[in-house]
Amino acid sequence: MVIEFQESQISSIKCDAEVIFIVAKNVEHKWIKKDSQKLVNLGCKYENHETVFLNESNKVVAAIDSISSENLRIAAALAIKAIKGEFKSLKVGLYLEGKQKRECIEAMVEGFLLGDYVYESYKSKKREHKIESIVISNSEYSNKKIEKSEVEEAIKRATIKCEAINSVRDIINTPPEDATPERLADIAEESAKECGISCKIYDEKHIKSNGMGAFYAVGKGSDNPPRLIHLSYKPQNPKAKVALVGKGLTYDTGGLSLKPSDYMTTMKADKSGGVTVLGIIIAASRLQIPVEIEAIIGAAENMVSGRSYRPDDVLTAKNGKTIEVKNTDAEGRLVLADCLCFAQEFEPDYIVDLATLTGACVVALGEYTFGVMGFNEELKSSICDASNKEAELSATLPFNKHLKKLLKSEIADVSNISSSRYGGAITAALFLSEFIEEKNRDKWVHLDIAGPAFVEKSWDYNPFGASGVALRTVLRWLESLGGK
Ligand code: BES
Ligand code: ZN
Ligand code: ZN
Repeated sequence: MVIEFQESQISSIKCDAEVIFIVAKNVEHKWIKKDSQKLVNLGCKYENHETVFLNESNKVVAAIDSISSENLRIAAALAIKAIKGEFKSLKVGLYLEGKQKRECIEAMVEGFLLGDYVYESYKSKKREHKIESIVISNSEYSNKKIEKSEVEEAIKRATIKCEAINSVRDIINTPPEDATPERLADIAEESAKECGISCKIYDEKHIKSNGMGAFYAVGKGSDNPPRLIHLSYKPQNPKAKVALVGKGLTYDTGGLSLKPSDYMTTMKADKSGGVTVLGIIIAASRLQIPVEIEAIIGAAENMVSGRSYRPDDVLTAKNGKTIEVKNTDAEGRLVLADCLCFAQEFEPDYIVDLATLTGACVVALGEYTFGVMGFNEELKSSICDASNKEAELSATLPFNKHLKKLLKSEIADVSNISSSRYGGAITAALFLSEFIEEKNRDKWVHLDIAGPAFVEKSWDYNPFGASGVALRTVLRWLESLGGK
């Protein structure tokens, strides 16, 4: 879909259909007045995010209670979904608010692009009618003015972000038979090449011989060998160096501690953290964010076979720590343990890991919110601040010394699961902290995206399937480091 800006009145733009947002139930506004009786007849109450398609006038209307980025993002997504029929082009006016004018446009464009996403690679019949272009007019809802360059910048930024999010969604949604660790590595290599960043792939032999015994063990039981993927984006004069680490489990059966069938489905999305890290570095490089990024993805498949690692095995991670395996379904933390050790070799200023790490995080926060954990309060709140600005839901979960004790092992340095069934999101993060060097404690933050990464009931601009959550948050946080 192309989004373009035209410096002409909305009424003079020729398109198949028009999108109108009704703000604060104001049906007297000139853009909607003519249709207000029809809306009443259709029973429209103008409640926030209510959408109506007016088929005689080729208009789709979405109500918002006020002009804000997130309202526009949601309304644009719902509007584009509500369009029924053979429309190829849409037009829409500008809705600007306060100081955040550019952000309003960005959010509206994001809503269109994210809301229009469908995953249909495996459908024999693809959808027939697709919106090919959206024209944004410079007619503004209350005659506010904005520079053409600012609108174009907003369109460009939203397009870069949403292309990244939608391709992250595509990759996560790909079935595990096709999205293997090797395939992920190929995709990373191809995308790195396209945007001129470097990419190194390490195979299972390298993983083993470099002391990454925990990561290696997780991948061992699968016919699809693991891959360690390392991408680097090095802008000139970077303001900071950030390591992003992602859990890339292309499938998580639970291993010998097998998951019950009902819990196994959707585990193709256990690669979400890793794939999102890939999306972030690609978008950051396209946006030219002045921050160096080392993206490290641990890609493996947790399977059952004669070669699977077992409960009772003791593994040695890259930092020399030994881990008693008590449950092979707590595999993400094993992969991340080694990836975090690897990441610290680059001496980053910050280390952010993204992972669908625990069901416990979903129990704690619900399926719309990701968890933020770490030792550094300021760092955690800077992430939450970025997430609030992006209207992605996040919440911090606090560490404490009692929970830490629950990871004690009788025979190794640490156990891979807690001895208690409570506080599982936090104990998983505390396990990861065992692999963060003392000097890096305050540089590290862990995002458990297990809840919102995969959507089973679509909501707002999140369709069924992978959401691409946390990409916008981390990008915004990177921009704040870069001084934006
Ligand atoms: N990939 C799962 C976590 C998960 C659960 C992600 C639900 C998305 C939705 C992870 O590898 C896992 O299985 N964790 C176990 C840990 C337990 C064995 C300590 C869990 O959460 O049950
Ligand atoms: Zn698992
Ligand atoms: Zn997992």
